[in-house]
Amino acid sequence: CLLLDHNLLLMSFVHFPVTAEDWKAANEDLTVSCRYVIKNQTTGDRLLIRVVAVNPGGRSPPATIADPVLVKEVGARPKVRLPRFLRQRYVKKVGEKINIVIPYSGKPKPVVSWLKDGQPLDSKRANIRTSDRDSILFIRQAERVDSGSYEMCVKVDDFEDKAAIIIQIIELPGPPASIKIVDVWGFNVALEWTVPKDNGNTEITGYTVQKADKKTGDWFNILEHYTRLNATISDLIMGNTYTFRVFAENKCGLSEECAVTKGEATIVKEVIDYKPTPFVEHDFTEAPKFTTVLNDRSTTVGYSTKLLCSVRGCPKPKIMWMKNKMILNNMDNPKYRMISTGGICTLEIRKPGPYDGGEYVCRAENTLGKVDTGCKLEVRKPGQADADKDKKEQ
Ligand SMILES: *[C@@H]1O[C@H](CO)[C@@H](O)[C@H](O)[C@H]1NC(C)=O
Ligand SMILES: *[C@@H]1O[C@H](CO)[C@@H](O)[C@H](O)[C@H]1NC(C)=O
Repeated sequence: CLLLDHNLLLMSFVHFPVTAEDWKAANEDLTVSCRYVIKNQTTGDRLLIRVVAVNPGGRSPPATIADPVLVKEVGARPKVRLPRFLRQRYVKKVGEKINIVIPYSGKPKPVVSWLKDGQPLDSKRANIRTSDRDSILFIRQAERVDSGSYEMCVKVDDFEDKAAIIIQIIELPGPPASIKIVDVWGFNVALEWTVPKDNGNTEITGYTVQKADKKTGDWFNILEHYTRLNATISDLIMGNTYTFRVFAENKCGLSEECAVTKGEATIVKEVIDYKPTPFVEHDFTEAPKFTTVLNDRSTTVGYSTKLLCSVRGCPKPKIMWMKNKMILNNMDNPKYRMISTGGICTLEIRKPGPYDGGEYVCRAENTLGKVDTGCKLEVRKPGQADADKDKKEQ
């Protein structure tokens, strides 16, 4: 259709020519409007157009449009009819199929073209199938390189319309780059890790932290969807030794691999609370013990003799001697001389008489206990030894 706009005349005839001289009325009836649409023209024709005003007094001289007007088919401006869901980022996972149908309109049929990031599409990666009504962007198996801005353009002569779609191809992230145990105290362990080198082409949404006790080696989740890069793990069990690991997470899920602590954290039995370890002296105390016991002895009346034993113990034991269960006291009886130095205990019996024979006991005692060692002392009469000898010889 051709739209003619004329505002000079109240009434008009519109003529168009085969030759410049052969004018023909375009409107059958006079019109009072300054606007008129000449319908049903043939595409490609060139029209000369003039307007004449008419009143009861007659016709005016014509006003003519200087250049012939070309009749063009302008059915509808080209338009990309982008579906609503493509007006935001279009996210797919690696390996998934992409099949985006974008309707368009325009008359005559627009020419459709595509660009990716301003460059022609790589036909090895992306296929375009365009019909009269839509254009389809098809990618058999998406890869991360397919991410980018795709622009569809529809064009009729000088008219065009464009729409861009942002495609983001994502996958599982890599593991956190590192993890370490930064502190162990009480029943707690402080952990610290770093972001993955590869986020899977989409932001990391959180981390999953696990612990394993060395005894069983089984892993248990302790934190999920945790967004910080450090954590304090509490309520660990005394005496256990732990290892920790952490997975990164994005829209696609948890990283297949994880970062594992190199060291281990042992929850020690003694909760010291940062106080310096008190210095504990080794305990050397022990109950008395005879390292050499008394042996039976015999002597002859008048010949001094010594009973001898050795003892150890800490604190230093007190030594006491007894004869036939009676305590001997060298203050009372100069016959006895008791010496105990360096753990050697001696009881000297000076010039024993026949009644000095009997059962002797040495007792050692300290705060941790007491112990006895005993022996028999025989005091023979002079000559008795010879007499015994004689008996044996007989
Ligand atoms: C338009 O032209 C066609 C033939 O070209 C004719 O059949 C039709 O009646 C015309 N329409 C008008 C409104 O003049
Ligand atoms: C993480 O580290 C910061 C800085 O060292 C510290 O202030 C914060 O308490 C830590 N958070 C946890 C949960 O351990």
